[in-house]
Parts: sequence; C-alpha cells; structure tokens
Amino acid sequence: MIRIDVLSLFPEMVLAPLRESIIGRAQKDGLVELHSHQLRDWTTDKHRRTDDYLCGGGQGMLLKPEPLFAAIEELRGKETYVILMTPQGQVFNQQTARELSSKKHLIIICGHYEGVDHRVIEKLVDLELSIGDYVLTNGAIAATVVIDSLTRLLPGALGDARSSEEESFSNPHLLEAPAYTKPIDFRGLKVPEVLTSGHHGKISAWKKEKALERTRQNRPDLLDSAHDATRA
Ligand code: ADE
Repeated sequence: MIRIDVLSLFPEMVLAPLRESIIGRAQKDGLVELHSHQLRDWTTDKHRRTDDYLCGGGQGMLLKPEPLFAAIEELRGKETYVILMTPQGQVFNQQTARELSSKKHLIIICGHYEGVDHRVIEKLVDLELSIGDYVLTNGAIAATVVIDSLTRLLPGALGDARSSEEESFSNPHLLEAPAYTKPIDFRGLKVPEVLTSGHHGKISAWKKEKALERTRQNRPDLLDSAHDATRA
C-alpha cells in the first residue's frame, strides 16, 4: 500500500485519467491511496495567490514558497519522499518507477509557471523529476504519468505478474520484438511463419533478432548504452 499526495493548481487534471482501467482498479483494491490537493487551499491571503514575480527580474512567474511549505509540513509523515515535477529534473525512467513503487508515501508537487521558488527545492524536495525533454503547461500530466507507471508495478496491480517483468525496459537496452495476433492472413498480410511453427527455440531466436533490429531502428541510443555498460 502506497499513499500519494499531489499538490497542484489543477487537482482534477491529475486524477481523471487515473480513475480508468488498471489504476482505477488498483485504487479500489486499496493498493494505492491517491489524494490530489488544491494548492490554493494553503494560501492565507484574500486573493489566494500562489505565484509571484521573479526576484532580480526575468520573464514569467514562480510558485511562492509559503503555500508549499504549509502544505508539505501538514501532509508530511516519517516516511515521506517529496518529488517536484519540472523540466529541470532528472529524466524519469523504468528504474526510477521501480524505486518509487517501493516507497510508503510520496508527495508530488506539480510545478507551474516558470517553476518554484528555489528554497522549496533546497528544503523540501528529495527528487526533481522530468518526464522528458519537452515543456508542458504544468506538472499535472507529468505527475499522472509517474503515478500510472509506478502503480502498475505494485504487486497485484496487473493480473499476470509476468507481464510487467517481460516488457521493454525491464531489459533497459532492448525494445520488444514485433507482435501479431489473429487472423494469420489479413488482406494478404501474413503473420511470420515462424510464430505459428510451434518451435519455441526458433521463435525465441526470431524474437531476439527482431528486437535488436527494432532497437537499432528506433532507439540506437539504447544499444550505445548497452555497449558502454559492458565495457564499464
Ligand atoms: N512540467 C512542465 N514540463 C514538464 C516535464 N517535461 N516534466 C515534468 N514536469 C514538467
């Protein structure tokens, strides 16, 4: 059981996609307890202001420290790990998803505007996380991505335990081989014969070869990092 508290200016944006399908069921089954909070609820001024101008000048606005400090001080427990979603963070991957899925309590701050006051990062944040080298309007969707990928790794979230073990990025250096289902002949497009041969050795060799081919085509950087890893 993991508890996740999200702090956002758009709490519904985070929650809505997580009500569906596997993550929705994981919540109903009590594998994950998800709370998405309105950051404005921790403001104390009349205008419920969460942002302000940059000290020293510069474009845009920053999230102010007071509401974030107040929220985290209220929500934090002994085993809390605090994450900030930001394009300035370390890039999220399957390894990080696995590590986060073993935590007891996460607080995820969704960055907004040009980011957050740096005192929040220095004093409260354990990990700055980006979901990739592109910029979203705010961190809500990024938080949803992180929550989805760590929740499906919780024991019991996927019906079949093997399905999360066998997939791409369990072996971080190789993508999955192409896959086919019925019909065997669709508009003259045939499923490769080896896959209907029943010969497990040949099927396994074919999958390995095709996985390598696909990785070379779509993600040559993964093969470079595999090469570096074997040399290290
Ligand atoms: N907020 C805006 N863009 C983001 C990104 N790429 N990752 C995480 N949070 C973000």
